[in-house]
Amino acid sequence: MIENEPLGPPATGPLEGRTVLVTGATSGIGYFAAEQLAGLGARVIVAARNPERATAATASIERHVPDAVVVQKRLDLADLASVRAAAASLTEEPRIDAIVANAGVIGYPGTAPRAVPPTTVDGFEIHFGTNHLGHFALIAALSARLHDWGTRVVHVGSLSHTLAKPPFDDAAQPSDERDFTLYARSKLAVTMFGFELARRFEAAGSTATSVVAHPGAAVDVLAPTREGVPATQPPVEAGWRRALVAALLHGKDAAARTLVHAAGAPDVRNGDFWGPAGVFEVRGAPARRRPRRKALDPATGAALVRLSEDLTGARLAV
Ligand SMILES: NC(=O)c1ccc[n+]([C@@H]2O[C@H](COP(=O)([O-])OP(=O)(O)OC[C@H]3O[C@@H](n4cnc5c(N)ncnc54)[C@H](OP(=O)(O)O)[C@@H]3O)[C@@H](O)[C@H]2O)c1
Repeated sequence: MIENEPLGPPATGPLEGRTVLVTGATSGIGYFAAEQLAGLGARVIVAARNPERATAATASIERHVPDAVVVQKRLDLADLASVRAAAASLTEEPRIDAIVANAGVIGYPGTAPRAVPPTTVDGFEIHFGTNHLGHFALIAALSARLHDWGTRVVHVGSLSHTLAKPPFDDAAQPSDERDFTLYARSKLAVTMFGFELARRFEAAGSTATSVVAHPGAAVDVLAPTREGVPATQPPVEAGWRRALVAALLHGKDAAARTLVHAAGAPDVRNGDFWGPAGVFEVRGAPARRRPRRKALDPATGAALVRLSEDLTGARLAV
């Protein structure tokens, strides 16, 4: 059994009066992050592509957090027209204190390369297009407001980013690759954009902050079930497999703690990298972690922003 640090109480303190937008709050880590943020008193914006799932997630949060204030926003990150419409409507908010850019298409290891990789509505490879370009377009469209509001942007990375490498020139239309390779590259892009945005906020003297947080390795089977909120991973049968998973990984509710901490805790600084405190950063309480050097390269970060601006037509205002 691998020993991990206990989670302990959340260090964010109460979040009353704050508004936090969570993408991908209809299942998994994003759902639990939204529920936990509501439990700390934040007004939560559930940004989701599927209105039925958004309504089910909202109802579940309201069942578990009696005084929750939850609103829904339509957002399909795989469709730039939807991203633009969501951003236009979000600029009307009085303020958004934090954005948890959590939604993601996950490519699991073991899949064979596909002859025709799935794409977003705009023709971008689905992992890069959704996980990076969709969030990039949203954040860029809101960037002037984020600067004014002093918003904290939490980019949800993944340990898998360590397996990928730049450049990203062909990431939107790659040749045959395995899903996991494409996923890892999209998460490296998410991570590098997070650090590039932090450099830009700092250079602009902004009170807005950009941080990267990764949830370790999290499974539905170790998290409590929530009525109407789907589990996206295949179930793990009881027995030695379940015991192994329980010994090594953590539940998506526990994983959400790192994102919640990154969104609301006072000890989080612009340009930080947060992840679980346990062995190999796989599970445990939120802790500041050391980013890989390749993810911090400013020239590649700037090139990624130029490419993302060209592909999406969205321009960063910082
Ligand atoms: N689980 C892990 O071990 C792990 C490890 C490292 C990083 N992460 C990252 O953590 C995040 C959450 O992972 P998870 O395991 O909780 O995944 P999940 O349960 O599969 O949830 C993914 C969420 O993303 C949303 N989404 C997918 N495509 C979207 C789109 N085009 N527009 C808007 N929303 C979209 C889904 O919405 P629908 O309900 O509409 O499908 C769902 O709410 C991801 O970014 C993932 O890369 C997870």
